[in-house]
Amino acid sequence: MSVTVASELETYLASSPKSAELSARAREIIPGGTTRTSTYLQPYPLYQVSGAGCRVVDLDGRERIDLLGNYSALILGHAHPSVTAAVQAQAAAGASFAAPTPPEVALAAELVNRIDSIEQVRFASSGTEATMFAMRLARAFTGRTVIARFEGGYHGSHDYASISGSVTDPALWGARERPNPVPDTAGLDPAVLDTTVVLPFNDLEACSRILTEHADDLAAIIVEPMLGKSGMIPAQDGFLAGLREIADETGAVLIFDEIMTLRLAPGGLQSVVGVRPDLTTSGKIIGGGLPVAAFGGRADIMQLMNPTTPGFLPQGGTFNGAIIGMVAGLAQMQELTTGTYASLNANGERLRRGFVDVLRSHDIPAFATGIGSLFNVHFSTQAPHDYRDAILGESTVLAEFVMGLINEGVLLAPRGMVALSTPIGEDEIAEVLDAVERVAARNAARWVGRLS
Ligand SMILES: Cc1ncc(COP(=O)(O)O)c(C=O)c1O
Repeated sequence: MSVTVASELETYLASSPKSAELSARAREIIPGGTTRTSTYLQPYPLYQVSGAGCRVVDLDGRERIDLLGNYSALILGHAHPSVTAAVQAQAAAGASFAAPTPPEVALAAELVNRIDSIEQVRFASSGTEATMFAMRLARAFTGRTVIARFEGGYHGSHDYASISGSVTDPALWGARERPNPVPDTAGLDPAVLDTTVVLPFNDLEACSRILTEHADDLAAIIVEPMLGKSGMIPAQDGFLAGLREIADETGAVLIFDEIMTLRLAPGGLQSVVGVRPDLTTSGKIIGGGLPVAAFGGRADIMQLMNPTTPGFLPQGGTFNGAIIGMVAGLAQMQELTTGTYASLNANGERLRRGFVDVLRSHDIPAFATGIGSLFNVHFSTQAPHDYRDAILGESTVLAEFVMGLINEGVLLAPRGMVALSTPIGEDEIAEVLDAVERVAARNAARWVGRLS
C-alpha cells in the first residue's frame, strides 16, 4: 500500500511515532520488519498491543474498531471471556502433549456434527498444511497427479498453493478462458507447473473444457466457494454445482477450501449453496485465535491417513491438535449458534450496504462484494466477477481510503477486506459509517476524477 496524499499520510505518521520507531528496529532484524506478508504495510505497520471485543489498541495508545479480526479468525472478537477462560485454564494445565487429548476429539466432533460432508477430520497448525494434505490425499486416493485450481484462489503458501494466485502482471496471464500456470513466487519447484492446471473462476464452460482435457490425470479440483483474498467474489449460481458434476464425471476429488467461508454458516458456505465436496479444509475460526486448521471429508478418503491402512499417509506436526488450540477452538465454536451466524451476517450486509451508500453519495464509484459477514470494498465502475476484474479495477484510491479509515479509528485489511465479529453491533456500525463519511467527504473531489 502506498499513499501519496500528504494529508492522510501525515496524519498517520504524526499519530504513530512509537510504531515508526519499533518498525525501524524490526527491519534491522526481521526482513521487512514483520513475519507475515499481509501485515507488511508502507510506510510501516501499526504495532498492536491489546484487544478486547471489537477494539484494539496500538503501541501509541490509540484505540480503533477492528473490522478484520485477524483476517476473519476472531469471529467473537478479541479476548472473548469463554475463550480466554478456556485458554487460561489450559495454559496452567499444560499447553501441548505428545499424546491425543479429549478436547481434540470434542473439536473433531464439533466439526463433524456441523459440516455434513465431513465424516472424518484431522487437525493441522495452519491452513497451508491443511490444503497441502488435502491435495496429497486426493493424489493418493486417485493415483493421479494433476491439481486444478483457480486463478486468484488462495490456499496458503506451499508450492502447490503458489501458482496463479496473485499474479498481477496481465502480460503473464494468458487467455481469460485458459489461464497460464504462473508461479506466484521465486523458489518454487518448477515441476509443480507441470502438474497444476489453472481455471477461470465463474466460467463453467471454460472449466469444463479444460478439465475434460485433463480427465485422465486429474486428482483434484480445489476451490474457495467464494474467492477470498482476491476480493470476496462469490461463485455465481450453479458454478459450484457444475464443478461437482465435472468432478463426478472425471473421478477427481472436489476440495472446498472453507478456511475463510466456514464462518458464514454452521455448515460452511457449502451448506448454503447445497453442494457437497469430497474434502473440506477449514481453519481461522476453529482455533479461537490460536493456530488450528483442519482437513476432512469422505471417510473412504480420510482413512488413507489411518496407520492401519497399508501405505497410509503419515502426518507429522509437533503442534497438530495441541490441546491449547483445541480448547480455544472448542470454546469459540460452542458460542456459535445458528442465531449468532444469522445476526452476524445481517450486520455484515448492513455495513456492506452502508459503505457503498456513503461512498456513492459522494459520487465515488464503489462496490462491496461478499456474503454476510465477509466483504471487500472495490473502487471501480463495475463489480468484479473474477480475479482479473479485481486486479484490473484496482485503484490507488483503495490505499488512501484504508489509511483514511485508520486515521479515523477503523482498521480493515489493506486490500479492503472486512470480516465482522459479534461485538460489532448497531452502534459500532454507525461509528464506522461516520468514519467512512468523513474520509469520503475530504477526499471525494480528488478520487472521483481518478476513478471515472
Ligand atoms: C481460503 C484460504 N485458504 C488457505 C489459507 C491459508 O491459511 P493459513 O494462513 O492458516 O496458512 C487462507 C488464509 O487466509 C485462506 O483464506
